[in-house]
Amino acid sequence: MRILLYRGDGDTAPWAEEFARHLPEAETVAWQEGASRAPCDYAVTWGAPEPALRELAEVKAIFLGGAGADAILKHEDAIPRHVPIVRLGDAGMGIQMAEYVLHAVLRYYRRFDEYEALARAGEWKPLPQYRREEFSVGVLGAGVLGMHVLEALKPFGFPLHAWSRSVKKIEGVQAHAGEAGLDTILRASRVVVCMLPLTAETANLLNRTNLAKLPQGAYLVNVARGAQVSEPDLLAMVKAGHIAGATLDVFRNEPLPVQHPFWQEPRITITPHISALTQRTESVQQIANKIRQLEKGEAIADVINRELGY
Ligand code: NAP
Ligand code: GLV
Repeated sequence: MRILLYRGDGDTAPWAEEFARHLPEAETVAWQEGASRAPCDYAVTWGAPEPALRELAEVKAIFLGGAGADAILKHEDAIPRHVPIVRLGDAGMGIQMAEYVLHAVLRYYRRFDEYEALARAGEWKPLPQYRREEFSVGVLGAGVLGMHVLEALKPFGFPLHAWSRSVKKIEGVQAHAGEAGLDTILRASRVVVCMLPLTAETANLLNRTNLAKLPQGAYLVNVARGAQVSEPDLLAMVKAGHIAGATLDVFRNEPLPVQHPFWQEPRITITPHISALTQRTESVQQIANKIRQLEKGEAIADVINRELGY
């Protein structure tokens, strides 16, 4: 069995080492532009450009080194419909998302930013405490990662809401779906957390109209994709005070350009797309297991639905 490896960062060697450990029967080949090579059975890629993807018509499946399929689906025409595209399902990202979102929610709930500013000013000043029953958290996207975050939030007693495409029943969480559900969750959420895949339906979802539905003084946490938020609308609403703060891990253009006004806005916290990093060992273990399942003719999880775009 031969596996073609492509990494946008060019660092395929550690991936090859992990495959040697977890799928020793496979030989790995690093993709090289213009290089001739023997046909491959599977491809494992992240950040592959269109010319590389065009060469993958031969493989039995393409495995992604990440959870989101939006980047590869931009070049969907390059990949025949019969070739399944398989994303990572958790593989160590769920716990990281839980850490990141929990940190942001607790930081806002316990007013840590304000206490930090007071401490810098040398002021000893207890602020009114927020009531947890009024500090609702709405998670947009109740998939693999959204569910991890909801579970992590449960012990704190905040009213929890979730929004997904299909109607769900989640214990301890008010679940919403569809247009009307979006309206309800936004109006109910003191903190809204975006954990949606980037698709035609979710692009620009958090625009002025929808952000205006959040209660006065709400917070936004975006750990999904930058293109889901209208950046000028968000900035305007933060400056106007309607949105009290935002924690953003993802942006329309990454790295976030130095001249971007977000850098100058203290109520916007910026992290460089690190909320859930790919864990190489867990990812390769998961991909190796899926390859074994496919070789036995079994169905596997996390295959992208090309119609839905995730
Ligand atoms: P997932 O399991 O596919 O979950 C996606 C969720 O979004 C599902 O609940 C789905 O609804 C919902 N959804 C999709 N389209 C919708 C729509 N139009 N309206 C309402 N709900 C919709 O994905 P995941 O593994 O949780 O990952 C989510 C995203 O996180 C990824 O796509 C990626 O962009 C992002 N991510 C970011 C980082 C980072 O470091 N910043 C790391 C990993 C992932 P159904 O349940 O009804 O299908
Ligand atoms: C990272 O953003 C991923 O989708 O895995």
